[in-house]
Amino acid sequence: MNSELILKQTAKDNHYNMPAEPSQMINVALQFQQLLMLYESAIKQLKTKFEILEDEFESKHERKPINNISSRIKEPMSIAEKLQRKGFAITIDNMVTKLYDIAGIRITCPFISDVYHVYRMLLNQDDVEIIELKDYIKNPKKSGYRSLHVIVKVRVSFSDEKRDIPVEIQIRTIAMDFWAALEHQIHYKKDYKMPPDVDEELKQIADTISQTDERMEKLAKNLPDFIDYSN
Ligand code: GTP
Ligand code: MG
Repeated sequence: MNSELILKQTAKDNHYNMPAEPSQMINVALQFQQLLMLYESAIKQLKTKFEILEDEFESKHERKPINNISSRIKEPMSIAEKLQRKGFAITIDNMVTKLYDIAGIRITCPFISDVYHVYRMLLNQDDVEIIELKDYIKNPKKSGYRSLHVIVKVRVSFSDEKRDIPVEIQIRTIAMDFWAALEHQIHYKKDYKMPPDVDEELKQIADTISQTDERMEKLAKNLPDFIDYSN
């Protein structure tokens, strides 16, 4: 079978909406590439915002409310897998209208109150609209996962149009991020059978880490002028 036939067969097997003609396939690939450029632009704009706010905060308070900012664009296979999982056909249109986490930014903060401060900074941006807020710090997931998830639409100006582009922003403490990174590694290895008590142990570790975060928060709040978000 030639490669075009293989692609079509794979598409059929997986219920993909694959264009019939090679010229159409190229067209879809080009559309996909242009879309990724839009998501990249949204990430750039938001990252710059966070960096400016961070510099401003540091100049006033002599410490940083942000430890690290990272970003990623969802891999094409993950996009296809997620659309399928949610019961949508794999089309460019569904990718744009049904998925809000194609562009992702992760921010780690030293203290819990910094997480909410970063969120408040977002609320004050004229070109950022909050679409959804999930507070997994106040309401941790069953796994023990903690983080503040914010889906926003950021208005990006291009040469002849403005676009509102969705981005998922995860904001959490360094300690929450430490747990999430290790837990992800442990669960990512799919080729062996997980012992039954691993999940319970991971949840207990998450609770211990949370208590440590709370102690750090309390300690910092007792330092004069260290954490002052009253203004
Ligand atoms: P999706 O359909 O996967 O988007 O589910 P959802 O909309 O309920 O998403 P959710 O708010 O749970 O966030 C999904 C993202 O949060 C994942 O891609 C991970 O980055 C992160 N996440 C959620 N739960 C966990 C967890 O238990 N462990 C770790 N390490 N990360 C998690
Ligand atoms: Mg999600």
